[in-house]
Amino acid sequence: MENYLLEMSGIHKRFPGVHALKGAQLKLRAGEVHALVGENGSGKSTLLNVLGGIISKDEGEIRINGQPVSINGVLDAQRAGISIIHQELVLVPYLSIAENIYINREPMRGGRVDYKTMYTTAQKFIDDLGLSLDAREKVVRLTIAQQQMVEIVKAVSFNAKIIAMDEPTSSLSDKEIDALFHNIRSLKARGIGIIYISHRLSELSTIADTVTVLRDGETVAAMPVAQTNNDEIVRLMVGREVTNYYTRTYNSPGEVLLDVKGLCSPKVEDVSFTLRAGEILGIAGLVGAGRTETVKAILGLDQRTKGEILFLGKPLRAKDPMDAYRQGIAYIPENRREEGIIPLQTVRFNTTLKVLQKFIHGIRVNRTEESRITAQYMNQLSVKAASQLTRLQNLSGGNQQKVVIASWLATDPKLIIMDEPTRGIDVGAKAEIYALMNSLAQQGIGIIMISSELPEIINMSDRVLVMREGKISKVLSRDQISQEEIMKYAVNI
Ligand SMILES: Nc1ncnc2c1ncn2[C@@H]1O[C@H](COP(=O)(O)OP(=O)(O)OP(=O)(O)O)[C@@H](O)[C@H]1O
Ligand SMILES: [Mg+2]
Repeated sequence: MENYLLEMSGIHKRFPGVHALKGAQLKLRAGEVHALVGENGSGKSTLLNVLGGIISKDEGEIRINGQPVSINGVLDAQRAGISIIHQELVLVPYLSIAENIYINREPMRGGRVDYKTMYTTAQKFIDDLGLSLDAREKVVRLTIAQQQMVEIVKAVSFNAKIIAMDEPTSSLSDKEIDALFHNIRSLKARGIGIIYISHRLSELSTIADTVTVLRDGETVAAMPVAQTNNDEIVRLMVGREVTNYYTRTYNSPGEVLLDVKGLCSPKVEDVSFTLRAGEILGIAGLVGAGRTETVKAILGLDQRTKGEILFLGKPLRAKDPMDAYRQGIAYIPENRREEGIIPLQTVRFNTTLKVLQKFIHGIRVNRTEESRITAQYMNQLSVKAASQLTRLQNLSGGNQQKVVIASWLATDPKLIIMDEPTRGIDVGAKAEIYALMNSLAQQGIGIIMISSELPEIINMSDRVLVMREGKISKVLSRDQISQEEIMKYAVNI
């Protein structure tokens, strides 16, 4: 019989209205990177939360090195050598790295916190992992990637044998991902077992040794990555063959919706382009090339220092996204969970939040209409929730994002700006989002799509703006769009 570092078996978890885990299992070896994949809402985060003692399981067994362990809270998990790095990082921004690492277990001396010891020991952990971080630096000044590193250092300082990461690469640049993978390999070399959740299936062959696939709370497969491929994984995740991944029917574009001339802001220089009705304009470039900043300058979030913007032939004066939205522009930002959702409110409330006036007649809210719209978008984006009245915070991460997208689509915009529209979204739902974008374009809506995923840029765009160092380095027409061309102008060679 094989020796596993961790065996979770027969795990069940029920939430009101949802049977989130139905006998799920996961077996992890020491020194192994074990990918955990599945559609949005399939139970990945729930399984990690059970492991980390954040929620209790209804049934099932957890063994570590063959011995059954009972995990009834975060402290039990810590004692058992388990560390979970959640998707939303939970470090305290205004404390230093060292203070975050030693929070609630500060080294004491004569009744006071012994900062000297704290900084030196924290720095030693950092140095041992070969990271370039200063233990005295405040967390607020770190990038997401660096904060993740702090979480890793923290896990190691707890002497973790098992480190689980929930979608660690979803907001990192390619370079940062390389650095994270480097760190993961050094954890591996120390014999630590790593559980790795990701929707980026293309990463698996680079970083993972084995993969467990969850579908609807059940483990449907567990196998070495070398013995499978993306198509098979997708089929296992979704339960059917996914054909027609990208849907795009090109139509001749209509009137000019947006005309940007010589736009400058503190972060972008001389950006000019037009967008016509029914067009999807992709914006490609490396992280930091000025893609989001271009949009921010258009929407008034960054100060416009020069240039002119015409929307439907008239000067666009937007102070912020709400202002732009009143004029018919929807902006679905990169950080969807931070912007414009109310976690304690229901799916229905959040979906119709921006258009609620439409349903108010006198003093009555037309709930039927509100429910109809909500049902329509839940269906179109396959939002998985027990009901429309489920609180948003009880949805899985990806499903919360879909609700944010729905709430913007419900505003009936003429122009939609999407920043990384499919980040954190599973493969099946991605295909649905592409189909939806296509049908919006066919209805004459203009779409600007910022994306780091070259396949979606290549397959969905009518034209691509490639940006580099705050400027447009090339505009590619449809027959010119290819990975080589995009990379050529995105990278300075
Ligand atoms: N606290 C909770 N209360 C009620 N339902 C919950 C709660 N937490 C999770 N769920 C439900 O359990 C199911 C599994 O959710 P989970 O967050 O584990 O999915 P996931 O696989 O991590 O998805 P994603 O890829 O979107 O992050 C979902 O249907 C979700 O709505
Ligand atoms: Mg999740």
